[in-house]
Amino acid sequence: MTDTPKIAQKAPYPVAVTAGRTYFWCTCGRSAKQPFCDGSHKETSLEPMKYQAETDKTLYFCGCKATTKPPFCDGSHNKL
Ligand code: FES
Ligand code: FES
Repeated sequence: MTDTPKIAQKAPYPVAVTAGRTYFWCTCGRSAKQPFCDGSHKETSLEPMKYQAETDKTLYFCGCKATTKPPFCDGSHNKL
């Protein structure tokens, strides 16, 4: 069991979210459906992070998994 996230990509994933819908951001970096969880975290001790959209808009979900403002990109990928 590892708790080390993998870098899915060193850039955010833009996603047009829908108000009221719930999303599960992949924290482990192993999902094939980035930036969201596909259950692949089973091989780790990590869990997805739940996010409920309040409005319809495009959000930038962190792909590097090193953000300090999860589930969103905060520019930390530029230091990797
Ligand atoms: Fe990464 Fe679920 S697959 S948190
Ligand atoms: Fe992770 Fe930008 S993609 S901080």
